[in-house]
Amino acid sequence: MKIRKLTIKDYPELIRLWDRARLPAKPKGRDSKAHIAKEMACNPGFFIGAFEKDMMVGTIIASHDGRKGWLNRIAVDPDYRRQGLAKILTVAGEKALRKRGIRIFGLLIHEYNAASLKLAQKMGYKVHNDILYLTKRNGDHI
Ligand SMILES: CC(C)(COP(=O)(O)OP(=O)(O)OC[C@H]1O[C@@H](n2cnc3c(N)ncnc32)[C@H](O)[C@@H]1OP(=O)(O)O)[C@@H](O)C(=O)NCCC(=O)NCCS
Repeated sequence: MKIRKLTIKDYPELIRLWDRARLPAKPKGRDSKAHIAKEMACNPGFFIGAFEKDMMVGTIIASHDGRKGWLNRIAVDPDYRRQGLAKILTVAGEKALRKRGIRIFGLLIHEYNAASLKLAQKMGYKVHNDILYLTKRNGDHI
């Protein structure tokens, strides 16, 4: 298994993996090729992939707003789950953020996503039941 940073050449594999992992993407919004290329250019090293031979089997995207870091879109191919891959990807994402001086890491997880919730808690993340997530969006597709 190889862990490496992704480039825009990996985009088709990234979409395929999200599809296999049943992770809902926004292909007309922030997951479009153009948007991801822009994000990768601003933050090289924040898109990370796990590869078995040449096949992408896991991903994570780090991001930060200068104050806090976020780990997004952790996804592992169903055939490669329960082998500790998400834990390895989480550590890699945290490392990329630490390199940029970020020391607080956050995750947004749907309440029904038991596997992700367990993963996060196992990795030392604390649930804050008193915080609600609010967004304001300039369109449904983003
Ligand atoms: C969540 C996900 C990334 C976990 O990937 P994974 O590689 O199987 O996870 P790991 O093997 O590293 O497991 C780490 C820990 O997470 C927990 N965990 C993982 N899958 C679990 C499951 N199905 N049920 C309960 N706990 C689970 C366990 O505590 C596990 O530690 P353990 O094996 O020592 O008990 C994977 O199930 C996935 O891709 N899900 C669909 C995409 C998704 O929902 N992503 C999250 C978006 S926020």
